[in-house]
Amino acid sequence: MPRTGKGQPSSGCYRTSLSPARLMARTLASRACGLLLPTALTACTGIQSALDPRGPASARIADLSWILFAGATLVFLLVLGILCYVLWSKAGDRGRFNHHYFIAGGGVVLPVVVLSVLLVFVFRVGAELTADPGEDALRVEVTGYQWWWEFRYIGEEPQQDLVTANELHIPVGRPVELQLKSADVIHSFWVPNLAGKRDLIPGMTNTLNIQADSPGLFRGMCNEFCGAQHTLMSLYVISEPDAVFQRWLDAQREPAQAPIGAWMEAGEAAFLKSGCPVCHTVRGTEARGRTGPDLTHFGSRRTIAAGTLSNSRANRIAWIASPQHIKPENHMPEFRLDSESLRAMADYLGSLE
Ligand code: CUA
Repeated sequence: MPRTGKGQPSSGCYRTSLSPARLMARTLASRACGLLLPTALTACTGIQSALDPRGPASARIADLSWILFAGATLVFLLVLGILCYVLWSKAGDRGRFNHHYFIAGGGVVLPVVVLSVLLVFVFRVGAELTADPGEDALRVEVTGYQWWWEFRYIGEEPQQDLVTANELHIPVGRPVELQLKSADVIHSFWVPNLAGKRDLIPGMTNTLNIQADSPGLFRGMCNEFCGAQHTLMSLYVISEPDAVFQRWLDAQREPAQAPIGAWMEAGEAAFLKSGCPVCHTVRGTEARGRTGPDLTHFGSRRTIAAGTLSNSRANRIAWIASPQHIKPENHMPEFRLDSESLRAMADYLGSLE
């Protein structure tokens, strides 16, 4: 046994006056704090967090949430204080809480006053969030499908409209008015870092204003149960400086680049003759289907099938070979392709940047 001088801690062993039980409790508490606190704090930030607001709408919502949280905490502490007083005060002192002024004040007047003030505040924030974003706003029509998102950037003329899917690019600092529609069932659009959520309802158009204060990548998802693959209906919002956004917009308006080389030509041929054009559009080719995502610049997207898989070659091959295995009940049927056509098609689609 190593011996140490008086008051000198040996390696890993300290003299203490705490009992073993209290020492263990203290150690457990400090370890729990060490583990849970960083976890809790990191959960507040990230690309899909309402507690990490990155635009004016989400900032207002976060403010409102913290005010409600603070109010609820105060009321909780008040009730807890009264409970402690009643438990530990002398029997004679508890009588003061029996007075009907206290019952009416604490049970009726206080809640009515607090809830009325909060209601006015909530209405004010609600009105701010739904205010007209102005003439300068970028307007994008968002259509929810089972289970993906279509984005139509509305141009000054109808032929200037740009249709893309599952990734929404927006310019930093400029308000964006989203016109929300649904092609089938009720969906709900929610990008927590940028704004609150709003439903996409068949037969009507809802609007939602979003804006990003800085460049970034944000993840959103459908927030209304809409069928078997509701949880695989994600989207990404990319906010970028205006010049970068304009370059992206111009590039996306271009038709798809023609295949270069025999392998890519084989990929395009496989795509065009396999039934894909019935549902998908690739501008610049004969593919003009409208029921599936526009694939003109599919290669520039980060993910496949609304955030289900990253857009890698292996995942493109897996998805084309067996979409029903990866995302059961989605509307893309399985085609029988030989291995070479499958790989060439995956490469061709990946080249559409
Ligand atoms: Cu769309 Cu849930």
